[in-house]
Amino acid sequence: MSMVITVDGPSGVGKGTMSQMLADKLGWHLLDSGALYRITAFAATEKGVGLEDEAAVADIARNLDVIFRSADGGVKVELSGQDISGDIRTETAGNNASIVAVLPAVRDALLQRQRDFATESGLVADGRDMGTTVFPKAPLKFYLTASPEVRAERRYNQLKEKGLCVSVVSLAEEIRERDERDSNRAASPLKPADDAVVVDTSSMSIDKVFQQMVEKVQSVIR
Ligand code: DC
Repeated sequence: MSMVITVDGPSGVGKGTMSQMLADKLGWHLLDSGALYRITAFAATEKGVGLEDEAAVADIARNLDVIFRSADGGVKVELSGQDISGDIRTETAGNNASIVAVLPAVRDALLQRQRDFATESGLVADGRDMGTTVFPKAPLKFYLTASPEVRAERRYNQLKEKGLCVSVVSLAEEIRERDERDSNRAASPLKPADDAVVVDTSSMSIDKVFQQMVEKVQSVIR
Protein backbone atom coordinates (compact mmCIF):
# COMPACT_ATOMS: atom_id res chain seq x y z
CA MET A 1 0.00 0.00 0.00
CA SER A 2 1.36 3.42 -0.92
CA MET A 3 2.00 6.09 1.71
CA VAL A 4 -0.63 8.86 1.90
CA ILE A 5 -0.85 11.90 4.17
CA THR A 6 -4.18 13.74 4.03
CA VAL A 7 -4.63 17.47 4.65
CA ASP A 8 -8.24 18.63 4.98
CA GLY A 9 -9.88 21.82 6.15
CA PRO A 10 -12.04 24.78 5.12
CA SER A 11 -11.35 27.37 2.42
CA GLY A 12 -8.47 29.75 2.90
CA VAL A 13 -6.87 27.91 5.80
CA GLY A 14 -3.54 27.42 4.02
CA LYS A 15 -3.91 23.71 3.15
CA GLY A 16 -2.59 24.26 -0.36
CA THR A 17 0.60 25.96 0.83
CA MET A 18 1.18 23.42 3.60
CA SER A 19 0.51 20.43 1.36
CA GLN A 20 2.89 21.73 -1.30
CA MET A 21 5.61 22.40 1.31
CA LEU A 22 5.15 18.92 2.79
CA ALA A 23 5.21 17.22 -0.62
CA ASP A 24 8.40 19.13 -1.54
CA LYS A 25 10.08 18.20 1.74
CA LEU A 26 9.21 14.50 1.44
CA GLY A 27 9.74 14.33 -2.33
CA TRP A 28 6.18 12.97 -2.68
CA HIS A 29 3.43 13.73 -5.19
CA LEU A 30 0.66 16.22 -4.46
CA LEU A 31 -3.06 15.83 -5.10
CA ASP A 32 -4.92 19.15 -5.22
CA SER A 33 -8.41 17.63 -5.17
CA GLY A 34 -10.10 21.05 -5.10
CA ALA A 35 -8.64 21.67 -8.57
CA LEU A 36 -10.64 18.72 -9.93
CA TYR A 37 -13.89 20.26 -8.66
CA ARG A 38 -12.83 23.68 -9.99
CA ILE A 39 -12.00 22.20 -13.42
CA THR A 40 -15.32 20.30 -13.53
CA ALA A 41 -17.29 23.48 -12.77
CA PHE A 42 -15.25 25.45 -15.31
CA ALA A 43 -15.81 22.82 -18.02
CA ALA A 44 -19.55 22.76 -17.27
CA THR A 45 -19.80 26.54 -17.58
CA GLU A 46 -17.83 26.48 -20.85
CA LYS A 47 -20.27 23.92 -22.25
CA GLY A 48 -23.30 25.88 -21.03
CA VAL A 49 -24.29 23.09 -18.63
CA GLY A 50 -26.10 24.21 -15.46
CA LEU A 51 -24.02 23.70 -12.30
CA GLU A 52 -26.88 21.84 -10.62
CA ASP A 53 -27.57 19.46 -13.53
CA GLU A 54 -26.21 16.41 -11.70
CA ALA A 55 -26.15 13.87 -14.54
CA ALA A 56 -24.61 16.26 -17.07
CA VAL A 57 -21.97 17.63 -14.66
CA ALA A 58 -21.08 14.08 -13.52
CA ASP A 59 -20.63 13.11 -17.14
CA ILE A 60 -18.21 16.02 -17.59
CA ALA A 61 -16.34 15.04 -14.40
CA ARG A 62 -15.99 11.44 -15.59
CA ASN A 63 -14.56 12.48 -18.94
CA LEU A 64 -12.29 15.39 -18.00
CA ASP A 65 -9.39 15.58 -20.46
CA VAL A 66 -7.04 17.24 -18.00
CA ILE A 67 -3.27 17.37 -17.62
CA PHE A 68 -1.36 18.79 -14.65
CA ARG A 69 2.10 19.99 -15.75
CA SER A 70 4.82 21.09 -13.36
CA ALA A 71 5.82 24.62 -14.30
CA ASP A 72 8.31 26.89 -12.51
CA GLY A 73 6.92 27.68 -9.12
CA GLY A 74 3.61 25.91 -9.62
CA VAL A 75 1.41 23.62 -11.64
CA LYS A 76 -0.10 24.38 -15.04
CA VAL A 77 -3.57 22.96 -15.67
CA GLU A 78 -4.57 22.10 -19.22
CA LEU A 79 -8.11 21.18 -20.17
CA SER A 80 -8.33 19.66 -23.66
CA GLY A 81 -5.06 21.43 -24.46
CA GLN A 82 -6.18 24.84 -23.19
CA ASP A 83 -4.24 26.44 -20.30
CA ILE A 84 -6.90 27.20 -17.67
CA SER A 85 -4.56 27.63 -14.67
CA GLY A 86 -5.66 31.23 -14.05
CA ASP A 87 -9.36 30.66 -14.83
CA ILE A 88 -9.81 28.07 -12.08
CA ARG A 89 -8.16 30.16 -9.34
CA THR A 90 -10.71 32.99 -9.12
CA GLU A 91 -13.16 33.38 -6.22
CA THR A 92 -16.03 32.61 -8.63
CA ALA A 93 -14.32 29.38 -9.71
CA GLY A 94 -14.01 28.36 -6.04
CA ASN A 95 -17.69 29.04 -5.40
CA ASN A 96 -18.75 27.19 -8.56
CA ALA A 97 -16.56 24.24 -7.48
CA SER A 98 -18.33 24.19 -4.13
CA ILE A 99 -21.72 24.10 -5.93
CA VAL A 100 -20.88 21.07 -8.12
CA ALA A 101 -19.16 19.39 -5.15
CA VAL A 102 -22.55 19.00 -3.45
CA LEU A 103 -23.69 16.54 -6.14
CA PRO A 104 -23.08 12.88 -5.13
CA ALA A 105 -22.73 11.67 -8.74
CA VAL A 106 -19.99 14.24 -9.35
CA ARG A 107 -18.12 13.12 -6.23
CA ASP A 108 -18.43 9.49 -7.34
CA ALA A 109 -17.15 10.37 -10.80
CA LEU A 110 -14.01 11.95 -9.32
CA LEU A 111 -13.35 9.34 -6.62
CA GLN A 112 -11.23 6.82 -8.53
CA ARG A 113 -9.34 9.58 -10.36
CA GLN A 114 -8.25 10.92 -6.95
CA ARG A 115 -7.30 7.47 -5.64
CA ASP A 116 -5.17 6.88 -8.74
CA PHE A 117 -2.81 9.64 -7.56
CA ALA A 118 -1.60 7.33 -4.78
CA THR A 119 1.48 5.54 -6.07
CA GLU A 120 4.56 3.96 -4.50
CA SER A 121 6.21 7.41 -4.51
CA GLY A 122 4.01 8.72 -1.67
CA LEU A 123 1.19 11.27 -1.81
CA VAL A 124 0.12 14.37 0.07
CA ALA A 125 -3.63 14.75 -0.59
CA ASP A 126 -5.20 18.18 -0.08
CA GLY A 127 -8.99 18.67 0.13
CA ARG A 128 -12.14 18.44 2.21
CA ASP A 129 -12.77 14.67 2.44
CA MET A 130 -9.34 13.16 1.86
CA GLY A 131 -9.16 11.62 5.35
CA THR A 132 -12.84 10.66 5.64
CA THR A 133 -13.74 9.27 2.20
CA VAL A 134 -10.99 9.22 -0.41
CA PHE A 135 -8.13 7.81 1.71
CA PRO A 136 -9.78 6.59 4.94
CA LYS A 137 -6.83 4.27 5.67
CA ALA A 138 -4.12 6.96 5.42
CA PRO A 139 -1.70 6.54 8.32
CA LEU A 140 -1.53 10.29 8.99
CA LYS A 141 -4.37 12.79 8.62
CA PHE A 142 -4.26 16.51 9.29
CA TYR A 143 -7.24 18.80 9.66
CA LEU A 144 -6.30 22.48 9.58
CA THR A 145 -8.67 25.14 10.92
CA ALA A 146 -8.63 28.90 11.50
CA SER A 147 -11.38 31.37 12.35
CA PRO A 148 -13.31 32.76 9.35
CA GLU A 149 -12.00 36.26 10.16
CA VAL A 150 -8.38 35.11 10.03
CA ARG A 151 -8.98 33.22 6.78
CA ALA A 152 -10.65 36.24 5.17
CA GLU A 153 -7.74 38.44 6.27
CA ARG A 154 -5.16 36.00 4.82
CA ARG A 155 -7.04 35.78 1.53
CA TYR A 156 -7.37 39.56 1.41
CA ASN A 157 -3.59 39.97 1.83
CA GLN A 158 -2.90 37.35 -0.87
CA LEU A 159 -5.17 39.12 -3.36
CA LYS A 160 -3.76 42.53 -2.43
CA GLU A 161 -0.25 41.25 -3.13
CA LYS A 162 -1.46 40.23 -6.59
CA GLY A 163 -2.69 43.79 -7.07
CA LEU A 164 -6.39 42.83 -6.87
CA CYS A 165 -8.79 45.08 -5.04
CA VAL A 166 -11.43 43.29 -2.94
CA SER A 167 -13.33 44.02 0.25
CA VAL A 168 -12.45 41.99 3.32
CA VAL A 169 -16.14 42.03 4.33
CA SER A 170 -17.30 40.43 1.07
CA LEU A 171 -14.47 37.87 1.29
CA ALA A 172 -15.57 36.95 4.83
CA GLU A 173 -19.15 36.56 3.59
CA GLU A 174 -18.04 34.31 0.69
CA ILE A 175 -15.95 32.18 3.04
CA ARG A 176 -18.88 31.82 5.42
CA GLU A 177 -21.20 30.76 2.57
CA ARG A 178 -18.68 28.26 1.21
CA ASP A 179 -18.02 26.77 4.69
CA GLU A 180 -21.73 26.33 5.17
CA ARG A 181 -22.24 24.60 1.81
CA ASP A 182 -19.15 22.38 2.16
CA SER A 183 -19.96 21.38 5.76
CA ASN A 184 -23.69 20.78 5.42
CA ARG A 185 -23.91 18.74 2.23
CA ALA A 186 -25.00 15.12 2.60
CA ALA A 187 -22.22 13.57 0.48
CA SER A 188 -18.76 13.65 2.09
CA PRO A 189 -19.18 16.87 4.07
CA LEU A 190 -16.20 18.82 5.32
CA LYS A 191 -15.31 17.47 8.77
CA PRO A 192 -12.25 16.09 10.51
CA ALA A 193 -11.73 12.32 10.32
CA ASP A 194 -12.04 10.70 13.77
CA ASP A 195 -8.31 10.02 13.76
CA ALA A 196 -7.20 13.39 12.34
CA VAL A 197 -4.60 15.61 13.99
CA VAL A 198 -6.42 18.95 14.28
CA VAL A 199 -4.25 22.08 14.03
CA ASP A 200 -5.83 25.49 14.74
CA THR A 201 -3.62 27.83 12.73
CA SER A 202 -5.44 31.09 13.69
CA SER A 203 -2.55 32.55 15.62
CA MET A 204 0.32 30.62 14.01
CA SER A 205 2.77 31.64 11.29
CA ILE A 206 3.18 29.48 8.17
CA ASP A 207 6.58 28.34 9.46
CA LYS A 208 5.17 27.36 12.84
CA VAL A 209 2.33 25.32 11.29
CA PHE A 210 4.76 23.61 8.95
CA GLN A 211 7.17 22.79 11.77
CA GLN A 212 4.36 21.21 13.80
CA MET A 213 3.25 19.14 10.83
CA VAL A 214 6.78 17.98 10.02
CA GLU A 215 7.32 16.91 13.65
CA LYS A 216 4.15 14.84 13.47
CA VAL A 217 5.18 13.31 10.13
CA GLN A 218 8.57 12.37 11.56
CA SER A 219 6.97 10.69 14.56
CA VAL A 220 4.48 8.67 12.49
CA ILE A 221 6.31 7.90 9.26
CA ARG A 222 9.77 6.45 9.66
O1 DC B 1 -9.73 23.63 -2.00
P1 DC B 1 -10.44 24.47 -3.06
O2 DC B 1 -10.76 25.86 -2.59
O3 DC B 1 -9.72 24.47 -4.35
O4 DC B 1 -11.85 23.71 -3.30
C1 DC B 1 -12.88 24.30 -4.05
C2 DC B 1 -14.21 23.65 -3.67
O5 DC B 1 -14.22 22.28 -4.11
C3 DC B 1 -14.52 23.60 -2.19
O6 DC B 1 -15.20 24.76 -1.73
C4 DC B 1 -15.37 22.37 -2.05
C5 DC B 1 -14.91 21.47 -3.17
N1 DC B 1 -14.04 20.37 -2.72
C6 DC B 1 -14.66 19.26 -2.20
O7 DC B 1 -15.87 19.23 -2.06
N2 DC B 1 -13.90 18.18 -1.86
C7 DC B 1 -12.58 18.21 -1.97
N3 DC B 1 -11.88 17.12 -1.63
C8 DC B 1 -11.93 19.36 -2.47
C9 DC B 1 -12.70 20.44 -2.82
